[in-house]
Order: sequence, then structure tokens, then C-alpha cells
Amino acid sequence: MTLDFSTTLGPAWFPAPIFTASGCASSGKELAQFFPLKSIGAIVTKSIMVKARPGRPTPRMAETPSGMLNSIGLQGPGIDSFIANDIPWLVEQGARIIVSIAGETVDEYATLARRLRSVPGISALEVNISCPNVENRGMVFACDPVSSRAVIDGVRRTLGGDLPIIAKLSPDVTDIVSIAREVVDAGADGVALINTLLGMVINTETMRPHLGGKTGGLSGPAIRPVAVRAIYQVHQALPKIPILGMGGVRNGRDAFEMILAGASGVSVGTATFGNPKAAIEIQSELKALVSAKGFTSLKSAVGFAHREIDSESAKESM
Ligand code: FUM
Repeated sequence: MTLDFSTTLGPAWFPAPIFTASGCASSGKELAQFFPLKSIGAIVTKSIMVKARPGRPTPRMAETPSGMLNSIGLQGPGIDSFIANDIPWLVEQGARIIVSIAGETVDEYATLARRLRSVPGISALEVNISCPNVENRGMVFACDPVSSRAVIDGVRRTLGGDLPIIAKLSPDVTDIVSIAREVVDAGADGVALINTLLGMVINTETMRPHLGGKTGGLSGPAIRPVAVRAIYQVHQALPKIPILGMGGVRNGRDAFEMILAGASGVSVGTATFGNPKAAIEIQSELKALVSAKGFTSLKSAVGFAHREIDSESAKESM
């Protein structure tokens, strides 16, 4: 049986459901030597800001049990250089592109949307309202429903109907479903779940925080159950809203877990640091698993974990 492995995030179509995670592969240049970028669903680029930005002081990374903390601080070249250099290069590779944007104010997000609106070759915008590595926690828009709505509303008004919006949310909230409802109501076509969790490591030699920025974002397998829970909750509440799932995916089985919870696509991030081929390998493993479970399309597996077990299969498993 052939498997339809394609997926959609709102109006955007992708031939396969595995994506890079923003921030873990920049604009894909380093990954291109390991596999053709066009062979995965899309490259989600590192969140870009209006101006070039040096990021936070070093050290910016710390290893943690089953994970890592990063405190990059949205380092990047700024939107002008990004549009001039990174997008044309990705287009040349034949890669599909999801551009992640981040701003310090609602207006900055709208400015980025205006700059990107008519750039050819972009499949969707990921609106990153959840980066934990900012000086002021008030700037983590995704921790507050009113701020979340304001950003997405500004981006949607600027874009009109031009590009799909995927709002990237933070797990550091009491009720992620209420934030998802706000952004969808404001015009997001989908949500990306989850960004990293705010964490800290203290160096017991220096007896001070290890990271230059003191706090950092926790990623890797340690956070996967948090991501699966968030995806499950949001899919249950908003079953028609596409979810791009991420958080500690290391293999096809982990990706399948997110699909079953309700994700239409899965981003691979931290795993890429240890294995630059992780995304393409996970994609092959996922394809084999989805087929082995008897699905004829990826889409029919999305959210399968929400279905009631019928009495026949319940008996079989007893
Ligand atoms: O620090 C960073 O650049 C991380 C961004 C993010 O997690 O969204």
C-alpha cells in the first residue's frame, strides 16, 4: 500500500511532515552537506529580528540530564541581510521555507511581516512569541493572552491573506489552550508547540549561574512529555487547528507520538546537534512506522490517540 506522507499547516502544503526546528540549524547551510534540504518538509529558519543582534554573553549552552539549556538571545543578521542572502540560497536548494520572526514590540513583528510579505519562496511565517532568552519576561508575549493576541493580530493585519501564520507558544504557562485560542482567534492558521522551558544551571565550582544570561531554555528528550501533553491538550480543544510539534524528538517513534497526540508536522531541533542527519533519518523511520501501523496517509494518523478504543480492541489488549 502506498502511503500519502504529505501534510498541511493551514493552507501551506508540504510533501513530508518532518521540519527543522527554528534555532537549531540557522538557515540550513550547515545541514545541506548531510542531506538535500528539499527532502524534508521544510526548513524553519532561526528567528529573525529587525536589526542584527549579537545575542547574550557566553557561556550560552549547558548540558543537563537528557537535555540542554541554551541562552543564545536571538543572535542573527537582521532582516535585510536575511532577505538578501538566506532566502535566495534556500530557494536555490529547492527547500520549502518557514521563516521564524521575533520582535521586541508588537510593531516590530508587523515590520517583519511587511518586509517578508512579498518575498517569493516562503511557505509560512512562524511567529515566535515565546523565546525565553530575553532580558524582560514581559517580552515573552506568549505568557500573556492579551500580548499574544496583539502580536498575531498585528501580523495578520499586515499580511492580509498573504501568508499562513504559525504562532510559536511557550509551555511556561498555566493554560496553554487559552493562549492557543487567543492566537487562533487573532488570525493564526496554526500553532507551534513547544518552545523551550525556562531553566537554570548553577556551577557548583564558581557557585554562580553557569550561563552568561543566567537563565536559558531547556530542550531535548527531558521536555518531550511536556510537549506531547501540550499538543494533546490543544488538539483536543481545537481539533481543526494544525499543530507543528517539537520538543526532544530523537527518532521516528518520538515523532509518531507527537503525530498521534495531534501534530500535523514535527520539528527536529536538539537531536541535530549530535547527529546532523537526524531530521532525514527520523523522517524515514516515521514513514516506516506510519505504514507499519496500517495508515494509508499521514493525515489519518494525526490525533489518533484521541480516539476511543472500541470494545473489540479493548478486549484484545486485555
Ligand atoms: O535564545 C534564543 O535565541 C532562543 C530562541 C527561542 O527559543 O525562541
